[in-house]
Amino acid sequence: MNQQSQPAHRKIMVWDAPIRVFHWLLVAAFATCWLTYEDNRFLHLHVYAGYLIIGLLVFRVTWGLVGTRYARFAEFFHPWSAVRAYAEGLATGNPRRFVGHNPLAGWAVLFLMGMTLVICVTGVVVLGVEEGHGPLGALMSLPTAMFWHEVHEQLAFVALWFIPLHLAGVIIEGRVLGESLLKAMITGHKLVEPEHPEVPPMRKVAAVLLGLAAMGAAVWYSGWFTAGEDGYRPFVGRALPQSALYAEECGSCHLAFHPVLLPARSWQAMLDGQANHFGDDLYLDGDTVAELLAFMLPNAAESALNEPAYKIDHSVPKDATPLRITETPYWKKKHDDIPQRVWDLEQVHGPLDCPACHLDAEEGMFEDSAMHLPKG
Ligand code: HEC
Ligand code: HEC
Repeated sequence: MNQQSQPAHRKIMVWDAPIRVFHWLLVAAFATCWLTYEDNRFLHLHVYAGYLIIGLLVFRVTWGLVGTRYARFAEFFHPWSAVRAYAEGLATGNPRRFVGHNPLAGWAVLFLMGMTLVICVTGVVVLGVEEGHGPLGALMSLPTAMFWHEVHEQLAFVALWFIPLHLAGVIIEGRVLGESLLKAMITGHKLVEPEHPEVPPMRKVAAVLLGLAAMGAAVWYSGWFTAGEDGYRPFVGRALPQSALYAEECGSCHLAFHPVLLPARSWQAMLDGQANHFGDDLYLDGDTVAELLAFMLPNAAESALNEPAYKIDHSVPKDATPLRITETPYWKKKHDDIPQRVWDLEQVHGPLDCPACHLDAEEGMFEDSAMHLPKG
């Protein structure tokens, strides 16, 4: 379009290959995070994409210091006066032309990178505490982590709103300057006045960046290929305490429900009434009861040993003593919208058949990623 109107301009490489790879990988990773955040079975993908973004940010900061000309922070961070002058120019339809990021975009880049970093770090915190996974496992208590969970989600929404703003900026600046900025981010080329220097494409650096992302994926998913028949790779967090006696005495008629699943007062009441356990007599002697309780009470829901423990405990009113896990508000809420056709499947023997849908039910973990609805 402006090839004719501005014959003096020449086409040069502005965005080197690593910058373009960074940009589009970031788009893909961000989209992946949004597509996977609701269904916990895709948590592994969500987490991989999050780690990828952290890696990308580390690269981008490095490249902002040692990269090619237009990628450098020094090139696109301008003082406030320049930002204002640029915005005024834009408003009158005659902004100063910048080969790389304009002053407004420069600050948007910084802001977005900072916010993305906070989103990723809070994500790792939440993952560590709620799922018992990742490097920040024992950092804080579950309630504190739940606060950061909220921050993680709200900031992700703010970041989402940035996308239409970003696109509007790309379209408006493109219109005013008469060039497609989208195309520039794909090919790296822009049409500029002859005095601006070109940058080298740096394809090898881009190849290394892509290679590292692929290697990260290979390491992250390495367990996938050695996993069981349903291709499931569990998140391996801290294991819960177990008891052989408990497994033996309480696992013969149904799953030995881990003590984290009910408050201590419920277990106490259940063993006080063991001679009439839902119609059965458990025939436990006093010593066995004492030994069972010594394991059950300290590991009950109040211990907050994992996320279900904490949430079940907080869902049960303090004056209630439910004898059924399936009657706690948290359990009901989590299983309310499972369609009837799933309950009707022959692999699912009623609501107490936890292992039918939770591959880690025996261990009492009930991690999001180990939830697996049978297909029938
Ligand atoms: C002799 C068989 C038997 C033994 C042994 C047994 N239970 Fe049960 N348990 C039952 C039956 C039957 C039910 C009711 C099942 C139903 O409603 O479908 C039940 C239900 C439960 C429930 C309620 C599940 C829910 O959420 O609806 C819990 C919790 C429970 N048992 C814990 C224990 C514990 C702890 C022990 C060991 C001290 C134990 N059971 C040993 C037979 C047994
Ligand atoms: C028919 C399949 C099915 C059965 C049987 C089942 N669940 Fe679930 N459970 C689910 C699904 C699906 C979810 C996820 C719901 C969601 O995330 O919204 C879930 C979620 C949970 C959660 C919440 C996990 C978390 O981190 O938030 C807990 C705890 C849980 N189930 C415990 C149990 C227990 C205990 C049993 C047995 C007494 C059981 N479930 C039986 C399907 C099942």
